[in-house]
Amino acid sequence: MADALHLPQGGTREDIYKAILPQIAAVTGSVDDAIANMANIAAILKQAFNFHWVGFYRTTAPQTLTLGPFQGPLACVIIPFARGVCGATATRKETVIVPDVEKFPGHIACSSLSRSEIVVPLVINGETQLLLDVDSDQVDDFSTMDQYYLEQIMGLLKRHY
Ligand code: SME
Repeated sequence: MADALHLPQGGTREDIYKAILPQIAAVTGSVDDAIANMANIAAILKQAFNFHWVGFYRTTAPQTLTLGPFQGPLACVIIPFARGVCGATATRKETVIVPDVEKFPGHIACSSLSRSEIVVPLVINGETQLLLDVDSDQVDDFSTMDQYYLEQIMGLLKRHY
């Protein structure tokens, strides 16, 4: 049985990232199952920050993403690389931050409450294999600080992917 998540009271978002990073490493480190690890990471990020939507999309066929473990409202199941913020991230193979989703051409509105978004890819052997997508109901909610820690988290997942 895993221990409960320990979160700093009244900390900044960065304080919380610093607190959860080693806990994510501990929870996922000995688990050789990527789906289980994605499920726990989604749960930890949701509990820590109460993001509107947090979850994963996996590359399941050429140029095609399929919904993975997530926390939040019902989401689109299949996203082609040619569509949306997720598709753009999969194609570019680098993190994309969208401060205002209404100004991103082709944004896929799975939820009308989403206002800003960050998507982080996991690139293995030159191909996007997996994405972490985080949506906020606030405009301009993500910075390079979020990018730094979310990329660290994806790096932990890479060991067992
Ligand atoms: N907004 C994303 C689609 C996924 S959902 O937000 C969960 C996009 O434009 O790719």
